[in-house]
Amino acid sequence: MTVMKGALIGCGFFAVNQMHAWAGLEGVEIVAICDRDPERLRIIGDQFGIGRRHQDAEAMMAEGGFDFVDIATTVNSHRALVELAALHRLPAICQKPFAPTLADAKAMVAAMEAAGVPLMIHENFRWQTPILAAKSVLASGAIGEPFWGRVSFRSGYDVFSGQPYLATSKRFIIEDLGIHSLDIARYLFGDAARMTARTRRVNPAIAGEDVATMLLDHESGLTSIVDVSYATKLPEESFPETFLEVDGTEGALRLGKNYRLTVHGSKGTKVREVAPHLLSWASRPWHNIQESVALIQHHWVERLQAGREPDTSGRDNLRTLALVEAAYLSAETGRTVDLGELLR
Ligand SMILES: NC(=O)c1ccc[n+]([C@@H]2O[C@H](COP(=O)([O-])OP(=O)(O)OC[C@H]3O[C@@H](n4cnc5c(N)ncnc54)[C@H](O)[C@@H]3O)[C@@H](O)[C@H]2O)c1
Repeated sequence: MTVMKGALIGCGFFAVNQMHAWAGLEGVEIVAICDRDPERLRIIGDQFGIGRRHQDAEAMMAEGGFDFVDIATTVNSHRALVELAALHRLPAICQKPFAPTLADAKAMVAAMEAAGVPLMIHENFRWQTPILAAKSVLASGAIGEPFWGRVSFRSGYDVFSGQPYLATSKRFIIEDLGIHSLDIARYLFGDAARMTARTRRVNPAIAGEDVATMLLDHESGLTSIVDVSYATKLPEESFPETFLEVDGTEGALRLGKNYRLTVHGSKGTKVREVAPHLLSWASRPWHNIQESVALIQHHWVERLQAGREPDTSGRDNLRTLALVEAAYLSAETGRTVDLGELLR
């Protein structure tokens, strides 16, 4: 098997998971890393034994010696780095959120398409074991034709200690976390045509909204609610679990606390645990997310080797980002937003 070589840009909080996942995958090797911050470069370089270290992404790409780049920086740097990858005709993975605006994301897709190289957005939540399990139940027809759904993430977990930039960003929960929940809604129920949203800031110490309730009219006719909160204080914290409710013509599906999946249909009721695997390098409660990182990176290697577009390609993810834009626009104006307006 030929080993594909990658270079990772951005050695911060989340990149540690990506580096662990790359180390655990066959057929791929990270040969170079880049961060503007020499301390982060040293920490990740030493932890994963990477000798080739750069502070400048442009210089690293110009020097070459790898088959793709994995961009793990925060959102404001994404466009410049993806355009640089396009310039060097390098396939690229870009962390979510794709870009600060839909216009930036469209330009990034266009640049990579013109260069003829694939772009995948690291939209990993749909790769979580419980979400994959729910998807396969829906595909089996066990609950009939779904007509209503809910994707819910409500927590009081302190995300700001690990990611302090989240407290100062004007856009918070929809852009950071809701983006995943909206992508799950697309994955399970198909694309949405209209969005109505309401937001609130409960925590006075942060700049952005920490509660959002979104109503989606899907193209299939299904209605879904996507609700997210980092202001919810519960007796038992469920971070970072996503709960699901889906009603169908023949039954219903519920994904609840501790990864308990209940499927009720014409053949009876089945309850099972669909917990994520605890990878050797993972730690609770993050293991659900960590496993999904390994799975999406595996998907990238498979698709790159096969010359096929990844499921969460840049073009696909424009539709998830459009839902984010639509939610902010709807919350700001009080009106229902037609997705066609934004995607044109
Ligand atoms: N998919 C998920 O489950 C998940 C979870 C957490 C964070 N994230 C995303 O990962 C991204 C990174 O988040 P984080 O919390 O690790 O941020 P972070 O601030 O901890 O790390 C980002 C790193 O990138 C470096 N950097 C920034 N611009 C650079 C540039 N132009 N060239 C080189 N280095 C540069 C910074 O110095 C920093 O070390 C964000 O987009 C965030 O939304 C995704």
